[in-house]
Amino acid sequence: MIPIKPVRHDQAPTPAAGSPAAGSPAAGSPAAGSPAAASPVEVAGAFLRPGALQLSALPPLSLYVHFPWCVRKCPYCDFNSHEVRGSFPEEEYLAALRSDLESALPLIWGRKIYTIFIGGGTPSLMSAAGLDRLMSDIRSLLPLDGAAEITMEANPGTFEADKFRSYRSSGINRLSIGIQSFNERHLQALGRIHDGGEARKAVEIAHANFDNFNLDLMYALPSQTLEEARSDVAAAIGFAPPHLSLYHLTLEPNTYFAKHPPVVPDDDASAEMQDMIAGLTSEAGYQHYEVSAYAKAGRKAKHNLNYWEFGDYLGIGAGAHSKISFPHRIVRQMRYKQPKAYLENTRAGRPIQEEFELGRDDLGFEFMLNALRLNDGFESNLFAERTGLTINAIDKALNAAEAKGLLYRDHRIIRPTELGRRFLNDLQQIFLD
Ligand SMILES: C[S@@+](CC[C@H](N)C(=O)[O-])C[C@H]1O[C@@H](n2cnc3c(N)ncnc32)[C@H](O)[C@@H]1O
Ligand code: SF4
Repeated sequence: MIPIKPVRHDQAPTPAAGSPAAGSPAAGSPAAGSPAAASPVEVAGAFLRPGALQLSALPPLSLYVHFPWCVRKCPYCDFNSHEVRGSFPEEEYLAALRSDLESALPLIWGRKIYTIFIGGGTPSLMSAAGLDRLMSDIRSLLPLDGAAEITMEANPGTFEADKFRSYRSSGINRLSIGIQSFNERHLQALGRIHDGGEARKAVEIAHANFDNFNLDLMYALPSQTLEEARSDVAAAIGFAPPHLSLYHLTLEPNTYFAKHPPVVPDDDASAEMQDMIAGLTSEAGYQHYEVSAYAKAGRKAKHNLNYWEFGDYLGIGAGAHSKISFPHRIVRQMRYKQPKAYLENTRAGRPIQEEFELGRDDLGFEFMLNALRLNDGFESNLFAERTGLTINAIDKALNAAEAKGLLYRDHRIIRPTELGRRFLNDLQQIFLD
């Protein structure tokens, strides 16, 4: 049995391999033309001109804010995160986020924001006053839905009760805590700055201030046994979190672990861990609704669901990705990745390093790459709504996947089968081919 390679849910999924080359530059757009000089009306006009697609409605819009610093770089981490080394330029970064957001406004004019995710890196390194300033900038520039889910990622080791109370009163209504493990030996092997006691204390502070929170745990850790993984998952469930994210550790290229690979459980052992997780979480009343995500009733992560349902997101901050739909096109953007380059270029009025329009031929795969991660799949009319294509565009691939027993479909829904979930990469690949 081959375990599914997890894709973490906190950042927007990376565009399909090869897409940037396949897509065409969004001409007339800030990254492609004469950005700083163009007026907001000209910028919006360039995106609204006739194009290859005809979307009947625009999808829900989310906001992602990236904070690119951490106390220390973990050896397994390939996120856009950089060791602080002394201090980080909080004031300057907040000013850049504000001007980044201002420059993006013509692209999302009049659209409400349904969810916000402040991720990293370690955004909980931000001071209470800094986070408050960020939230009031966002509120003053964007119309937020009254029931908006506003999540912040937080690392144990940065938890101070006062600061988290203040985050709550600034408007954060959901925390996502990077526990990873409660076991001292594994936390050390992962290079984490916190110990088991701090992990527990972080959850207690979260409990006291937030009714909605998520715990991130990883399994299949270096030299981890099935019993050790079980005791981590049981400890997490013991805190009754509304949401759990349980990730299979992956050895990502360009990380310390890729160069110096630790000994990790083999495929059979990690498959046993997955079975153990399925048992413990369902006994405790969690619905396993996405590859790595488990939720109590009514507590699915709305922000991540919007990614998986091919919704729109504006990403601001170093290296953040955006996907924004217009009536006749869908555009992807990426901000400058290195904090220094991001700060310099944003100061000069051009935070976007790369921008391209999704080609019609990429849309079927891009939609399925995301939606097939959902255990309950999706209603087939969502495909047309989000891509502007009819479901016939992927009929051949749907038939092939069905014939292999990887996919179920009826007149209403399309979803991966049990086998399709086990071999998700193979199932997704059919839509790429
Ligand atoms: C944006 S990351 C980091 C959030 C936060 N800075 C932290 O580490 O606590 C979100 C989650 O992705 C998971 N993750 C990061 N790298 C991973 C890897 N190589 N394999 C599996 N999960 C990983 C971790 O569980 C982590 O909490
Ligand atoms: S704390 Fe989180 S984001 Fe930072 S290096 Fe570690 S895993 Fe990556």
